[in-house]
Amino acid sequence: MRTRLTSTLLLILATAALAVCEDTSKTDPSKPDPTAETEGGIPVTDRLTIAKCGGCHTADAYGNLSRISWIRTTPEGWQESIKRMVQLNGLNLGPDDARQIVRYLANEHGLAPEETQPFRWSLEMRQVQTEGIPTPAIQRACTTCHSLAKPQTWHRSAAEWHLLKNMHIGYFPLSQFVAFSDHSPPGTDPNAPKPKQPVDEAVDYFSKNYGLYSSAWSNWRAQMTDADPSGHWLLTASAPGKGKYFGEMTVTRVAPGEFKTETTLTGVRDNDKLVLPGKSFLYTGYEWRGSAKSAQLGALRQVMTLTPDQTTLQGRWFWGAYQEFGFTISAQRDNASTAVLGTDIISLPAGAKGEPMKIYGQHFPADLEPADFDLGAGVKVSQVISVDPKAVSVTVDTDPKVFAGKRRIAVRGHVANDAFSVYDHVEYIKITAETALAHVGGTVGKKGFVQFEAHAYSNGLDGLPNTADDVDLGPINAKWSIEEFIAHNNDHDKEFVGFIDQTGLFTPSQDGPNPQRRFSADNIGDIWVVAKYAGKDAKAPLEAKSYLVVAIPDFLRFDSPEVAGTK
Ligand code: HEC
Ligand code: HEC
Repeated sequence: MRTRLTSTLLLILATAALAVCEDTSKTDPSKPDPTAETEGGIPVTDRLTIAKCGGCHTADAYGNLSRISWIRTTPEGWQESIKRMVQLNGLNLGPDDARQIVRYLANEHGLAPEETQPFRWSLEMRQVQTEGIPTPAIQRACTTCHSLAKPQTWHRSAAEWHLLKNMHIGYFPLSQFVAFSDHSPPGTDPNAPKPKQPVDEAVDYFSKNYGLYSSAWSNWRAQMTDADPSGHWLLTASAPGKGKYFGEMTVTRVAPGEFKTETTLTGVRDNDKLVLPGKSFLYTGYEWRGSAKSAQLGALRQVMTLTPDQTTLQGRWFWGAYQEFGFTISAQRDNASTAVLGTDIISLPAGAKGEPMKIYGQHFPADLEPADFDLGAGVKVSQVISVDPKAVSVTVDTDPKVFAGKRRIAVRGHVANDAFSVYDHVEYIKITAETALAHVGGTVGKKGFVQFEAHAYSNGLDGLPNTADDVDLGPINAKWSIEEFIAHNNDHDKEFVGFIDQTGLFTPSQDGPNPQRRFSADNIGDIWVVAKYAGKDAKAPLEAKSYLVVAIPDFLRFDSPEVAGTK
């Protein structure tokens, strides 16, 4: 997760005094102190955690350490606060001890799968288009510097939410002016009662909805086991601009919660083979954090969840200075019976005859016949060409009047979901993402690329575009270009911000002042990214646009590579 901060804000953050946090709101002796703890905490029983944290966070009679016992969060959340304890509060801690403490706290003061589920995009470092933000005041108070998912991946007592406000004011005094309080319009009576400030509305909201205790956590903590993903896994993956991959992963346990991984992935489009040795950690009984290295891609980080039945892993493996490149990964345990993973086909038109299709999987029996395949109404396997335990080649026919939509592949009752789509015509195309952010780099900061992808769509049963029943037919080969977005006259952003290649990859220009630009401006600006498609399955030439902002490098980062062992 990253923030976009204005340069003034950055300066203040960078020079923020190590102020001791104190409540700056006026204290009214008749009112109870909102930062005084009234709830029961979660005792800390780990000797190392008590030894390292207990000096400042003193224990009460029940074994609760101040602050720590009233907070639950993700492994990244614990990592981040421990890092701050080291950098700003003078805690002395080696990397092994730090990892052990993160593991203990992520397990005992963690989040349940249901509690992280809505915010996986943030843990997986995906760019999100919109966040559901409850009120405008909360938007102002808490999304000026980071996403709302940041607080939404913390659960705390009411007193702890108040203390968090004070922590922000202490370290980032500017938060008062840019986010936390409303400015009274001129002429406001100074004696009039003050309306509730945005920050207090936010603190109330989080105290009510993100409290320390929840039924989700009680249930999960009771059921949580020292899950063991050791064994052989079958992978399906896809990456924007690269297409589908299939592969295998062998997981070996090296210590409690710690694993070695051997992974291979093969790309369907270019037949490129990735070999990815790595390691991983399992936190809170389901949070997989791993790292792997590939000769082609460099270091990848892995964020996945393990389902409670320990049969499926799902998430994202990502790389790039801004984690902008990544595979969406799904892994299922190899249980020694037939498994169907997917196909090389992205979509099939109506009325197709003898289309070759390769179906990937594991343990395919040698005696497969056309009748063993079920691809849904109007789609038939006409011939089985060859069978290998890991791949079957068949030919497929589709009815001229076939229902457009996503299709499953079932082979003798073993199923791959969303394996391909069937359609009549490509009715429109759309670019993912419809708005995007790139960063100039190469001098001071690093470049932030954007891999665009154009998807074909069918209108679905209602025959209307842009309705809920439209069918995403998957990525197509589009012709890519960039166009000026007229925000200021004659700024010619298109000439300076960067270029797009025919795979849809946008490469931003160098950072720093450019003497060739007016006022020696940076190579930043905003443009349209345009995709054009004129395949014979489209009734007319099609075009789509995405709005791209090319910004300065990000200087403040919220990621915790230590959790995955990449640092
Ligand atoms: C040298 C003293 C010191 C030690 C040791 C210390 N802390 Fe802290 N901790 C502080 C201070 C001061 C604050 C309040 C200011 C702040 O939030 O940074 C704090 C606040 C916190 C908070 C609340 C942050 C928030 O989000 O509001 C957490 C969580 C925390 N510490 C965790 C830990 C853990 C875990 C350890 C042991 C690994 C630890 N601390 C060790 C001094 C310490
Ligand atoms: C002025 C910018 C700014 C605003 C406004 C802001 N935050 Fe933060 N917040 C930060 C920064 C920077 C950090 C990271 C601190 C660090 O590096 O340890 C942070 C960290 C956090 C954390 C992690 C706690 C920890 O111990 O690290 C939470 C939770 C959080 N913010 C919640 C909120 C909420 C809730 C609001 C609205 C009331 C809010 N933030 C508004 C800048 C801001």
